[in-house]
Amino acid sequence: MSVVKPICNQKEANDEVVVIVWDVFVRLFHWLLVVLVATTAITGFLGQEWWLNIHLWAGYGIGLMITLRLVWGFFGTNYARFSSFIFRPGKTYDFTRQLLRGKPDHYTGHNPAGALMVFALLLVLTGLTISGLIVLGGQEKQGILAGVISYALGSEVAEFHEIAAFLLLFMIAAHIGGVLLESYLSRQNLVRSMINGRKNVPLVKAAIAGKVVLVGKALFAISIIAVMAGALVWSLMRLPVSGFKVIKQNSAYASECGECHHAYHPSLLPESSWNKILTGLSDHFGEDASLDREVVKILNQYLKLNAARHWDTEAANNLRRVSAKDPLSITASPYWVLRHKDIDERVFKRNKIASKGNCIACHIDAGSGRFDDQMINVPDE
Ligand code: HEC
Ligand code: HEC
Repeated sequence: MSVVKPICNQKEANDEVVVIVWDVFVRLFHWLLVVLVATTAITGFLGQEWWLNIHLWAGYGIGLMITLRLVWGFFGTNYARFSSFIFRPGKTYDFTRQLLRGKPDHYTGHNPAGALMVFALLLVLTGLTISGLIVLGGQEKQGILAGVISYALGSEVAEFHEIAAFLLLFMIAAHIGGVLLESYLSRQNLVRSMINGRKNVPLVKAAIAGKVVLVGKALFAISIIAVMAGALVWSLMRLPVSGFKVIKQNSAYASECGECHHAYHPSLLPESSWNKILTGLSDHFGEDASLDREVVKILNQYLKLNAARHWDTEAANNLRRVSAKDPLSITASPYWVLRHKDIDERVFKRNKIASKGNCIACHIDAGSGRFDDQMINVPDE
């Protein structure tokens, strides 16, 4: 299959011809990527917690698109191949100087500055996809890396993810600026070229025959990648979630401590706080919640064994730092206050919520201690 098809138009072209420079894949890739990146940016920067799923799917989409683009960069059409836009540093330097003088050479495919931007964008997007998976696995205990990444690592990488996201915005702005500048200097509408694939090209350059698309090789490479990625995902997904376990509800705990409010997951407070609660039950937040000594012993054992330090979830990692003034309250801890500060006081007074401590009214999965972002649902009334 020959790709660079000179579409000769006798009337229009004396010394220039219209050539399909960007093949269908490159164009689809480009505009789908625009949509996906916009989606991740909006859901990431402005999003509410429960938008996380949209952010994730768009992120997975970006990962898939980049993988396909890498394959196409080796086996695709002429101007899609990396080999056609890897320039020597000298060439890039010359081009930049020409650009600054306002008289750059015209390239049929990517010019050296544009090529550099394409590689940089691919690199940053790859970094964002991988770091996103690490954050998701470590902080949220979700996704393919939930079994291997600690909360601490997830939190560190989260900062990188955010910095890379800002860098990406900056690069996108530079990319759009570059396209507009080059469009103006070359008197070609490059945005339209990325839609219909066509550019006006001097006859001499169009005569260079396009490389044949290696569809067979491309498909072969994609199958190999799919099998390897599939095997990796399959084996990672079989690992238990790190720092999280499904525990049997202790029946004494459920009945005695679930009477006036829901039975708080033991991971939500450190051992010392649970201890203080159990030794002060006769005056428990103004109520008499006294229990048999035998029962207290059972509860003590259960809470000690499952207190915050035995978990690596987001909730346990952060809630183990209690308020010095009020170490018995989950809702007084600095992290709890921080995460719920945007919620109007009146919301907590709604009938179906009634109090700040009624975690399970808004967090569907409060009973398991997971507190997933996607499991937040604040009742309207
Ligand atoms: C007689 C009713 C009653 C029983 C039984 C009871 N509690 Fe409470 N508990 C309360 C009240 C009232 C509060 C204060 C809640 C509020 O202000 O919204 C509270 C608050 C708490 C809090 C702090 C929640 C927050 O808002 O941060 C924890 C933790 C807690 N209880 C643990 C326990 C444990 C453990 C048991 C079982 C040993 C237990 N409670 C049994 C009435 C009870
Ligand atoms: C009125 C509803 C409501 C109640 C009650 C409530 N939360 Fe939340 N919680 C939210 C919302 C909304 C968010 C997300 C805030 C944001 O956008 O950062 C959140 C966030 C969190 C997070 C962070 C989740 C994450 O993955 O980012 C944790 C942990 C959490 N809540 C724990 C608790 C605990 C523990 C309780 C009970 C002591 C509780 N919440 C009570 C609404 C509630």
